[in-house]
Amino acid sequence: MQTTHCPRSFPLVFSGMGFLLYLLLSGCQQQPPVPAAPEFQPEILPIPKQLATYEEMQIPADNAMTPEKVALGRQLFFDKRLSVDGTRSCYSCHVCEKGLTDGLPKAVGALNKQLPRSSPTLWNIGYHKEFYWDGRSGSLEKQGMAAWTGGNMGAKADEIAAKLNGISGYKSQFQKVFGSDATPDNIIKAICAFERTIISGDTAYDRWKAGDQSAIGEEAKRGFKVFQDLKCNNCHDGVLFTDQQYHNVGIGMDAKEPDVGRFKVSNKPEDTGAFKTPTLRDITKSAPYFHDGSTATLEEAVDLMVGGGKPNKYLDKKNIQKRKVTPKQKQDLLAFLKTLDVDCTLTEPKLP
Ligand code: HEC
Ligand code: HEC
Repeated sequence: MQTTHCPRSFPLVFSGMGFLLYLLLSGCQQQPPVPAAPEFQPEILPIPKQLATYEEMQIPADNAMTPEKVALGRQLFFDKRLSVDGTRSCYSCHVCEKGLTDGLPKAVGALNKQLPRSSPTLWNIGYHKEFYWDGRSGSLEKQGMAAWTGGNMGAKADEIAAKLNGISGYKSQFQKVFGSDATPDNIIKAICAFERTIISGDTAYDRWKAGDQSAIGEEAKRGFKVFQDLKCNNCHDGVLFTDQQYHNVGIGMDAKEPDVGRFKVSNKPEDTGAFKTPTLRDITKSAPYFHDGSTATLEEAVDLMVGGGKPNKYLDKKNIQKRKVTPKQKQDLLAFLKTLDVDCTLTEPKLP
């Protein structure tokens, strides 16, 4: 048996006329075209020039640097949407005011996960060959992927890539830079291209080395001599102030379960408790110090080093010994370290 929705014919005719009227009107009234949203314009900064005094940076053949890629990487580096809970960007733990560290003894990752070590500085990181305090990562790209998908940011890489492709300002940049949508691989490539621009450059120390006698004071000049006389440069060597080698100077060896550091990577007993020599660039800002953040002030950290590190079975006695300094020499040494301060130029970009 058939039923009809409209039992009477009059309202049907009436509503039919209404529909016709609607068609007529909407045909006449031209809707103004909706203007397309303006395309996101990334802020493109020049790639900083490498100082002549630095050795040449090795750029991987499959991740050439372009200003557009660096600009994209800079946004990603600063974007908290890259973490699992939206609370952490790379920059969260590597901030300017703290010498590109986070000011905590040990870092705290996304979802408030307590991490086992202190955030190291990223100055001149593009010149490094191995990454992390124990050097367990062989490339900046591998390190970046680990930081992103591990405890630091807890990201599910594919999900975040899909999320970025849903943001037109990102999607268009990935298309331009990589000729494809965002993928976990090219997200990390862009971030690493940006990281390779984090160069400490023209500090007072570098200007002095380049011949400007007025760039640093007399105290600091004497301090540089103290630094050499104390053989700090056995390990904090060269223009990067690190030999990129692993040494046991005894930090944390008195803990109940000491962090074995490099040993876990190399399996050599002599590497027990050895860590990558940290750079001293921007060192006045990156307290607390050492891989476990166990030392609150630079003065105490320097005292520890001048004192020959902390005695333990694996101490690198060949390179570090107890030395004597006068209070004035120590003051000079600290004045010298201050000349390595970097005028940080990492500024937060506009995000799509
Ligand atoms: C929650 C804080 C945190 C976040 C977020 C974070 N890092 Fe780090 N980063 C650390 C800590 C801690 C270490 C040292 C870990 C270790 O040595 O075991 C480190 C180490 C590094 C290193 C190695 C430095 C060296 O001297 O070898 C690089 C490079 C780096 N991070 C880059 C990044 C990038 C890129 C991101 C974003 C994808 C990021 N970090 C996010 C805390 C953080
Ligand atoms: C045997 C090599 C060696 C020598 C010599 C040495 N250092 Fe170090 N230094 C290291 C290592 C390795 C660390 C990191 C130790 C750790 O965290 O476990 C370090 C850490 C530091 C830190 C803290 C850095 C940070 O980012 O936390 C400062 C400051 C420092 N050294 C200054 C000096 C000074 C000043 C001298 C000379 C008196 C000196 N060092 C001599 C290897 C050395």
